[in-house]
Amino acid sequence: MPRFIAPALPARRVIALSVFCLTTAVSATFSMAFSTPALAQSAILEGERFHPQVGEHAMVATSHYLASQIAHDVLEGGGNAVDAAVTAGFALAVTQPRSGNIGGGGFMLISDEKSDKVIAIDYREKAPAAAYETMFQNEQGEAVSELSRYTHNASGVPGTVAGLALALDKYGTLTLPQALAPAIKLADEGFVIPPRFAEGLDEAQDRLKQWDSTRKVFYKPDGSLYRAGERFRQPDLAATLKRIADKGPREFYEGKTAELIATEMKNHGGLMTAKDLAGYQPTIREPVHGTYRGYDIYAMSPPSSGGAHIVQMLNILEGYDIHAMGFNSARTIHVMSEAMKRAYADRAEYLGDTDFVDVPLKGITSKAYAEELRAQIDLDHATPSKEIAAGHPLPYESNETTHFSIADDSGLAVSNTYTINFSYGSGIVVDGAGFLLNNEMDDFSAKPGTPNAYGLIGGEANKVEPEKRMLSSMTPTIVKKDGKNFLVTGSPGGSRIITTTLQVVMNVIDHGMNIQSAVSAPRIHDQWLPDEIRIEDGISPDTIALLEAMGHKVSQQEAMGAAQSILIEDDGTFTGGADPRRSTSSAMGL
Ligand code: DON
Repeated sequence: MPRFIAPALPARRVIALSVFCLTTAVSATFSMAFSTPALAQSAILEGERFHPQVGEHAMVATSHYLASQIAHDVLEGGGNAVDAAVTAGFALAVTQPRSGNIGGGGFMLISDEKSDKVIAIDYREKAPAAAYETMFQNEQGEAVSELSRYTHNASGVPGTVAGLALALDKYGTLTLPQALAPAIKLADEGFVIPPRFAEGLDEAQDRLKQWDSTRKVFYKPDGSLYRAGERFRQPDLAATLKRIADKGPREFYEGKTAELIATEMKNHGGLMTAKDLAGYQPTIREPVHGTYRGYDIYAMSPPSSGGAHIVQMLNILEGYDIHAMGFNSARTIHVMSEAMKRAYADRAEYLGDTDFVDVPLKGITSKAYAEELRAQIDLDHATPSKEIAAGHPLPYESNETTHFSIADDSGLAVSNTYTINFSYGSGIVVDGAGFLLNNEMDDFSAKPGTPNAYGLIGGEANKVEPEKRMLSSMTPTIVKKDGKNFLVTGSPGGSRIITTTLQVVMNVIDHGMNIQSAVSAPRIHDQWLPDEIRIEDGISPDTIALLEAMGHKVSQQEAMGAAQSILIEDDGTFTGGADPRRSTSSAMGL
């Protein structure tokens, strides 16, 4: 029986209308428009339209049904959530090569209820030792995006194999060969191609076919496309995974796979060397911790900006009665957008790899700073982005991505987001090794002040430096309630990751949605620059008109994120929400 039954909407509508003092003109539009979307939204709020999967012992939610099935099988066979997560991570590298990977990197949060600990495994890619600040600029000092996105120098040293192996070693019960076995089988025997897989390779073919090594793997010998329903095999990838299973994770960094990567680099003028690979190590970090309406929020710390800014935005939004203001009402979207703008302005100024730069993390995530920022928000008018600069948190204290969530009844929960950056990363397959390399170097600021592929501005803190980790937005998040795992979430989506994750948290905590409704509901996004609220389909024209009357520019674009999520009810029931924005998404309970 779901606990999250939202109170009747009419009562909320009355509160919402009485709380705000609008100008007469806006007020008239507001009250007129408000009744229509409220009725439409009730089906989402009451969970009448979207229904989660349910499990007694465990839940998995991934972006591919084959990976979900494999993770489910691990749990059914007595493995724990970390075993299932690592096995799913390797399986996704086979079934979803546009984002699942061994040639990229990511972040994994693991919550262990028994020891009351949440740890963060940072397996983000690192810049090669020969990287330098101006490597993606031309002679005139202008940033050249082609260089940071589609060349061998676009790749950071991959972290996925070392990161997943570390998680397994620390918390798992399976051996690495056991965790790799399903992926090896899928790569070797192949799988039936789903429509999304075929469509992706069709759309990206101009870019991918430029490289012989990539064409050989993803297209038929005559260059034609694989069609949905056909079987797709990856023998080179199977051999690579088998070598890692036989020789251990360091094989990727010091064995034949490392040699293949180093040769690929040498043949194409890439900076990454065998020494860079041999030197790569993942790191265990403290996640960022904050609170929201009594819940404990744990999310990824730098080199991701995700944890800092989800906590910062939640701190700002905690000062409003979001529940009373209503789900996706103009007023709620307005304050969310204002909080988002201020957080992304700070991101541009302060965030970078804490192994290289000081980040005022305590200041950014403090309630006092949130209060200061909230005081700047005018409830009736948008603040133009040009009037927002990075704030002044307390000084520095001394000193196509894919997300999956897995939780079990031993008290373990795993929230993992990993990526090769764009769909298919750099588009370059390591010849003979069968996997795509990331283009994560584009997440550095090629030139401070110049936007990256997601329009994100970065500053000095995120400039290219040797062996530095590039700033990320990935936000694997675990919310605890009274010391127990409660919500496990996160998302792909570049700059939209932090705001997507924020909205799943708010949809559950503020709006009382069940987890399937919380991930399915229409989302919004504001990243300070460009100065606009980006919305998905499903926000009413009346709401848009109200936002425009407040001075917001509103732009409707394609769907954002894919937040495969889990909510654990008070009675221990696991509920899972697969994000419908990915046609292959799947949640499975046990
Ligand atoms: O680390 C980051 O923030 C980006 N490289 C993530 C890219 C991404 O989410 C692409 N997927 N949709």
